[in-house]
Amino acid sequence: MLKGRIDLRSDTITQPDDAMREVMAHAVVGDDVLGDDPTVRELEQRTAALLGKEAAVFVPSGTMANQLAIRSLTRPGDAILLDANAHIYCYEAGAPAALAGVQVSLLDGARGQFTAAQLEAALPPRDDHFAPPSLVCIENTHNRGGGSVWPLEQIESVTAAARGHGLSLHLDGARLWNASAASGVSEAEYASHFDTVSVCFSKGLGAPVGSILAGTADVIANARFYRKQQGGAMRQVGIIAAAARHALEHNRSRLVDDHANGRALANGLAKLPGLEVDAAGVETNMVFIGTGDRDAGALAKRLEELGVRLLDTGPHTLRAVTNLTVSAEEVGQALTAFEQAL
Ligand SMILES: Cc1ncc(COP(=O)(O)O)c(C=O)c1O
Repeated sequence: MLKGRIDLRSDTITQPDDAMREVMAHAVVGDDVLGDDPTVRELEQRTAALLGKEAAVFVPSGTMANQLAIRSLTRPGDAILLDANAHIYCYEAGAPAALAGVQVSLLDGARGQFTAAQLEAALPPRDDHFAPPSLVCIENTHNRGGGSVWPLEQIESVTAAARGHGLSLHLDGARLWNASAASGVSEAEYASHFDTVSVCFSKGLGAPVGSILAGTADVIANARFYRKQQGGAMRQVGIIAAAARHALEHNRSRLVDDHANGRALANGLAKLPGLEVDAAGVETNMVFIGTGDRDAGALAKRLEELGVRLLDTGPHTLRAVTNLTVSAEEVGQALTAFEQAL
């Protein structure tokens, strides 16, 4: 097998194909900081409509989309509430503290999903001793939760509880497309419960760059200001917005293939002695693999030699993410490589 040929490290590893490069080459562009780029404007309008929101702003990354939401919906000194395994908390370089000056209050959700009761219990009394909570963030699908999909009823109860306390709501929807593909609940239905929603084109959809933050016209106008302040306003960026539009049009419906591949991979791995895999819990494109006593890094290295790349996410945990570069046949080949490596 060729070294590292089957790449399961993430759904961010995809490369633009010829058709995507073609639309990028021919994109009509302008200076987007001056509001002149028709391709960006169209993508923003189209995505806002798809999410049922008034307005949207195109940004370089999911991290920036999340952080603009936090900056726009809070004041320095506020508290934001989110799951302890949230990407915003674990992997965004301390940005809530550094960029918005907020403190985080962490909830101990199950697979990234907390309940209305947990939220209520975490809210401090109104008292000068406490950082005033102002925002709740939910992540759907939940990355460290195993690509889990929030049940709509749980979103409804958590967001209703948050609203009851006058809190704003942000949805980290980096993989909202996957949640919708898996559940049949539309992106707009999910988004309707939140003030802001971030979505990424550079994950399962296969574009090289780009995310969007959507919300009301007022909030997005604020977010645009903070985007500029943080150096995220871009010039002839229609070139990458065109790739994002192409990804949205062509790669959304095929996410169910990634999910089927994720399940097949999990089912196969669950049968291998020495590995711990919750196959029934695989709802989308992520498979977390417990390696028992085996060193996860060493196993990943051996697998790479056998042609399969994945990430070790802990001393005894590997993560495999199915994506548009991986076919059903290659999932079978990856399972064979696992058997050999073990
Ligand atoms: C759930 C979630 N939110 C946000 C992000 C941040 O996206 P980016 O890497 O584009 O900053 C990621 C990245 O993997 C993610 O998994």
